[in-house]
Amino acid sequence: MQDFDFTGRRILVTGAANGFGEAMADLLHAAGATLVLADVEVEPLAQVAARCGAEMQVYDQADPESIERLVAAAGEIDTLIGNAGILVAKPLLETSFEEMRRVIDVDLVGALRLMQLVGAGMVARKHGVILLIGSQTAFSGGENRAVYAAAKAAISQLTKSAAVEWGPHGVRVLCLAPGRALTRMSRETVKEGRSGDRGLARVPLGRWGTAQEIAKLAMILVSDAAAYVAGETLVADGGYVVG
Ligand SMILES: NC(=O)c1ccc[n+]([C@@H]2O[C@H](COP(=O)([O-])OP(=O)(O)OC[C@H]3O[C@@H](n4cnc5c(N)ncnc54)[C@H](O)[C@@H]3O)[C@@H](O)[C@H]2O)c1
Repeated sequence: MQDFDFTGRRILVTGAANGFGEAMADLLHAAGATLVLADVEVEPLAQVAARCGAEMQVYDQADPESIERLVAAAGEIDTLIGNAGILVAKPLLETSFEEMRRVIDVDLVGALRLMQLVGAGMVARKHGVILLIGSQTAFSGGENRAVYAAAKAAISQLTKSAAVEWGPHGVRVLCLAPGRALTRMSRETVKEGRSGDRGLARVPLGRWGTAQEIAKLAMILVSDAAAYVAGETLVADGGYVVG
């Protein structure tokens, strides 16, 4: 159980104001981590940060200068969980150029720039763990998910190359790819009939996931219990991709 004692570990969680990021913050706080929580939404972030005794940083992952300010303010980070993301759930033919750019900017370019800047410090210090949050759609694709799935597929690919380049420097990079879990992001699309798949019938476990289940897996993957895992994407989707 020592592997799950995060005392003394400084962890930056992005997208920490809601959903998976919020659940990760609660769990890692309970496990003793020192948290830096970042998000674009000020009020909900302040609530989570207060609850977790964490530092909070407001930033916009679509804005490179804002990302640079976040990394400078966050200091020496032992573990990064790059979780912030957006979904524009629309058919490809109805997706505007601005919407495409926004999804790619936040979910891919911003996530990549953030992990590059945080990774540089980790490589210099010869120690670190980076967990990127991808998506099952990287493997399955899906209706109303074209741009999002493309960005998330790139995140899985990025994970492999970064793991190869930074592994020799003591930095472990890996990816967690959730299926549908009922956070705000997915609830809205389910409610509006834009769920983008053939529904629960495709999930062998017969239910959607929860933010807590994804947070527990994230905790395992960044812990020393997973010390020999690098470059991999773990799909947590109730069996959707293989079903
Ligand atoms: N919920 C799902 O079913 C599901 C499935 C697969 C992958 N994911 C991924 O998991 C991650 C978390 O999603 P969630 O379900 O918790 O959604 P969520 O909407 O509850 O949380 C996402 C968080 O990211 C923040 N964020 C959005 N844009 C940002 C920006 N420009 N800068 C900084 N922060 C920003 C939001 O404010 C929010 O707090 C995302 O990367 C998402 O793509 C979610």
